[in-house]
Amino acid sequence: MDDIKAYIAEHRERFIQELIELLKIPSISADSAFSQDIYNAAEAIKKGLSEAGCDHVEICETKGYPIIYGEKIIDPELPTVLVYGHYDVQPPDPLELWETPPFEPTIRTNELHPQGAIFARGASDDKGQVYMHVKALEFMVSKNLLPCNVKFMIEGEEEVGSESLSDFVQENHEKLANDIILISDTGMIANDIPSITTGLRGLSYVEVEVTGPNRDLHSGLYGGAVANPINILAKMIASLHDENNHITIPGFYDKVVELTDEERTAMAKAPFDLEAYKNALDIESVYGEETYSTNERNSIRPTLDVNGIWGGYTGEGAKTVIPSKAFAKISMRLVPDQDWHEITDLFSKHFAQIAPPGVRVKVNPHHGGESYVTPIDSIGYQAASKAYETTFGKVPVPKRNGGSIPIVALFEKELGSKSILMGFGLDSNAIHSPNEHFGIWNFLKGIETIPYFYKFYTEMS
Ligand code: BES
Ligand code: MN
Ligand code: MN
Repeated sequence: MDDIKAYIAEHRERFIQELIELLKIPSISADSAFSQDIYNAAEAIKKGLSEAGCDHVEICETKGYPIIYGEKIIDPELPTVLVYGHYDVQPPDPLELWETPPFEPTIRTNELHPQGAIFARGASDDKGQVYMHVKALEFMVSKNLLPCNVKFMIEGEEEVGSESLSDFVQENHEKLANDIILISDTGMIANDIPSITTGLRGLSYVEVEVTGPNRDLHSGLYGGAVANPINILAKMIASLHDENNHITIPGFYDKVVELTDEERTAMAKAPFDLEAYKNALDIESVYGEETYSTNERNSIRPTLDVNGIWGGYTGEGAKTVIPSKAFAKISMRLVPDQDWHEITDLFSKHFAQIAPPGVRVKVNPHHGGESYVTPIDSIGYQAASKAYETTFGKVPVPKRNGGSIPIVALFEKELGSKSILMGFGLDSNAIHSPNEHFGIWNFLKGIETIPYFYKFYTEMS
């Protein structure tokens, strides 16, 4: 495996150029106007996997966007690693905040990325990280160093809830049979503080609608005499947190697993610079649930956040109106052992219950998923840890993350395998935001580290 450094040095420019080509495809799963681009991205992934050395690659159609499945089986007796990732990306808007267009990848350097970073939607989430696995495979196959079997499953609906993938997994237990799932769709603490994600939060996403009068009304003629759905919705949302920033939905915390003092102490040892955190976000103070640290608030504690709120008149100038309706999109991040269906129910019941007379409310559940925790004493984790230690020269810190990859819990339930989250991005990569980027150093470090995971995992199995 030690040839990997030389191999990367030799092929560096080509690796970067290939990733840039992939990033030019606007594979936005949320917007059907881009569906052709999704298919183009799927073809590009298929081609990449074939050229890297998979023996068999297919585009599996689903009722939604296709899943690319690839494999190289060298010996059925050896362990099998299943690599999961996604080729769809988030919508890039607001476009005007991008320094260079989201689908015209551009390399720029900055303080954190003296070697340069590729700026493009999907650079870090998740095309750049998927492509590290493709290039790591290319290296192992071309040098005859692949120590075990490998399967790839790259989907196109992660950013919209992985609905087709969940059917695919349920219907293809045998095809997807594996010993460990390897995923690069998260981040690490810093380039000099490698970390492995040991937990993901679950999610319940709902949309609410509050209806007052049957039409928009003159706010002078009717104002004060009928319920204004926006005023009411604002009040209802405000009531969902108490003065300590605890969520007030009855039963919301019933199944939350509290960490022991030892676990919290261990967690607090992970390097964290509060001043740098605040500076990076231009905020004077952090904010959140009483008695928990920032790192706890954004990883081991559940949350409730409004993602969008609208209604009434928002055009230019003033229009005196009491709107008939108000809307909001609300996400709840969940932790073990909260069940997302149950939380969605609790939310819906509570929301209907706190509505005052004079309005009607509707709650439309969207997608969701369960949280996930990786045990650090598993061989999968140990192999990953040794791989980072080899290439970073430091033992990685285990760290629970606040984001969600809902399909990971389903993998465990359906396929019986654990997932190892070897992410090489940084929180500052601006995933889902304007100016998303991925450090070239991170991209290449991922390619360097992944083959060692295969080696150590196979040796330890
Ligand atoms: N890759 C992210 C999740 C992530 C990023 C986890 C960084 C941990 C660290 C993934 O693509 C994502 O955006 N997930 C969504 C949920 C999904 C159901 C849309 C999320 O977390 O909001
Ligand atoms: Mn992702
Ligand atoms: Mn994402």
